[in-house]
Amino acid sequence: MAEQKINNIDVSEYPHINRGLDGIVAFSTTKSSIDGKTGELIFSGYHIETLAENATFEELCFLLWNDRLPNKKELDELNQKLRSKRNLPEPVLNYIKTTNKKAEPMSVLRTSVSMLADFQDSEANDTENAIAITAKIPTIIAAFDRARKGKEIVAPLKIGSTAYNFLYMLNGEKPGQAAERTMDLCLVIHAEHGMNASTFTCRTICATESDMFSAVTGAIGALKGPLHGGANTAVMNTLLTLKEQDEVADPIAFTKEKLENKEKIMGFGHRVYKVFDPRAVHLRKMSKELSEETGHEYLYKWSEAMVKTMKDEKNIDPNVDFFSATVYYSMGIQPDLYTCIFAMSRVAGWTAHFFEQKANNRLIRPRALYVAEKNKDWVPVEER
Ligand code: CMC
Repeated sequence: MAEQKINNIDVSEYPHINRGLDGIVAFSTTKSSIDGKTGELIFSGYHIETLAENATFEELCFLLWNDRLPNKKELDELNQKLRSKRNLPEPVLNYIKTTNKKAEPMSVLRTSVSMLADFQDSEANDTENAIAITAKIPTIIAAFDRARKGKEIVAPLKIGSTAYNFLYMLNGEKPGQAAERTMDLCLVIHAEHGMNASTFTCRTICATESDMFSAVTGAIGALKGPLHGGANTAVMNTLLTLKEQDEVADPIAFTKEKLENKEKIMGFGHRVYKVFDPRAVHLRKMSKELSEETGHEYLYKWSEAMVKTMKDEKNIDPNVDFFSATVYYSMGIQPDLYTCIFAMSRVAGWTAHFFEQKANNRLIRPRALYVAEKNKDWVPVEER
């Protein structure tokens, strides 16, 4: 191999540097398969289309954790366990009530999940931990949203699905069937997605033989960023910026101008998909229906105009975060909670990967190529 030198270092002696680990296969998994060329997405054997039509979020948790669907008895048992674990320990609730009302909801979620570790039964196994974390995340999100608005915190119910209970705790009133189904479908769609940044973070933390609370806390931190889950909030902020422009709002000119300025348009592009994200197909349909029902059809129309402009100008398609923004907005949910809802669902995938990593563990420890100077002489502080 020809010698390549950076700062006198022979790069060819080192493994190839892959910025962003693009295309690197680091693990084998039974949790999901993504074909970025055809837009095929499979969760533990089932196409996303089949799951979107048939599965509940709780069934999906069981599927991801066990690589098979539950029978009726197993599903009832899991539902029962999840319902019984929804309450938060008092100190976590106190933290949520007393923290800065202007704090980012994802930060509050991250800190709360981290705190949960201190109050979990030390004898609890990983399955019990996964159930407890999954059950408590919706309570944390709803409690913080109500606390920051000066509203009374609504205690979780011991009945109903995760979706039903979350909307109930958030709004203080029982949701209708359509709202519950929409939220449930969103939870199903977001539950798992290969080696995305937050799942990789989760597996990396697991691989040091750390605990599940630490791994999920780290994963929430990774999901928060706008290049990952934080994009759904950023999409809504973009649409709301357009809304502020009122009658002169022009999504096409807006998109083109951003592209000309080399800015990224949130909710577009994906490391793996080079075609329309299959999850966005479902969310697009929901976005159209819900925005029409709730008088927000202009948001849907602007979204479609942006989709067309991005396709024409850059040949880039929308990802999962693009249409989910208008779905949640039409449901009356505040934009800065959207990434938390993503976490509420993706915890199923994170914990499933935690089980998988732990069952066949090896420390995750890549290399970095040192490209700075060597052999510098020490200069005393007074002489620098
Ligand atoms: N807007 C404008 N240009 C884009 C966009 C975008 N959203 N996404 C990619 N590009 C361009 C990029 O500028 C580059 O162009 P060029 O080759 O001319 O420099 C080309 O496409 C390749 O982009 P990249 O940034 O190298 O691609 P990546 O695989 O490193 O990044 C991404 C993937 C998702 C971070 C990126 O598409 C992006 O920043 N999108 C916006 C944020 C977003 O929506 N994130 C949610 C991702 S999906 C859900 C999730 O995982 O949470």
